[in-house]
Amino acid sequence: MNQVIGMTETHNPSSTPAATTPLVEVNGIEVIYNHVILVLKGVSLQVPHQSIVALLGNGAGKTTTLRAISNLLKGERGEVTKGGITLEGEQIANLSPAELVKRGVVQVMEGRHCFAHLTIEENLMTGSYTRTDKGEIAANLEKVYNYFPRLKTRRTSQAAYTSGGEQQMCAIGRALMSNPRMVLLDEPSMGLAPQIVDEVFHIVKDLNSKEKVTFLLAEQNTNMALKYADYGYIMESGRIVMDGKASDLANNEDVKEFYLGVGGSERKSFKDVKSYKRRKRWLA
Ligand SMILES: Nc1ncnc2c1ncn2[C@@H]1O[C@H](COP(=O)(O)OP(=O)(O)OP(=O)(O)O)[C@@H](O)[C@H]1O
Ligand SMILES: [Mg+2]
Repeated sequence: MNQVIGMTETHNPSSTPAATTPLVEVNGIEVIYNHVILVLKGVSLQVPHQSIVALLGNGAGKTTTLRAISNLLKGERGEVTKGGITLEGEQIANLSPAELVKRGVVQVMEGRHCFAHLTIEENLMTGSYTRTDKGEIAANLEKVYNYFPRLKTRRTSQAAYTSGGEQQMCAIGRALMSNPRMVLLDEPSMGLAPQIVDEVFHIVKDLNSKEKVTFLLAEQNTNMALKYADYGYIMESGRIVMDGKASDLANNEDVKEFYLGVGGSERKSFKDVKSYKRRKRWLA
């Protein structure tokens, strides 16, 4: 396929033809909250093994997509009403969040969610609830401290008294304590200074390349996410309107105009952009 940036129905984030079943595949899901509010209107995406995939767009359904994958919709009175989600080809709709953690899929929720009264180390230990082997837990803790030296320094500090960046690192570190294959990371940059965001993303990239952890990253910070991701999907109003290799998206004129603060000052809908309309016609 010559087209660099394709529409959602035709995408294939993996550049190697030999790549087989993606780690996670979302197939045309619809999600409804409170029985009436249709939020996802047929979302499809693929997360290949050992990749970093970014899910971009503002208020567009990113969190809902992550919740659908990790089966956290019930607590929000939401449900998947159409389509399906597979983990290595197997449907996962009936697996609880805890069962998914056991299979290596763990979510770091938006807003960091550390236990304020626990120390950093106690917070990290809560992430090992699916593991029983003490040696393995200790090794995981050392690994987390190795990737996040700041957390080691702050291990005995109460989480409430640590910085936003340290709390985000703690939330990611806690997820790592379950030895995941895949981390769904919701808005890690939220409220953090650019330098700290860079530090966090750098560690994510390191975990991806050295520990082979796959990441699905929901981010409003398009610039930063595209800098570190391999592939990106842009959502608008519950649909994926564009997808492509992260480097291609970062250089795409429409993306620059809408999300990277370059180009005209008036923000239109992605649907008004000529090239988007053109792509749509091709598929019609
Ligand atoms: N629990 C809920 N009940 C009803 N509507 C919801 C619920 N959660 C989200 N929504 C609605 O679904 C739409 C998508 O929300 P979602 O949080 O998935 O998007 P997002 O891309 O993560 O947003 P943000 O960029 O603000 O993080 C929004 O219109 C939101 O109001
Ligand atoms: Mg969100």
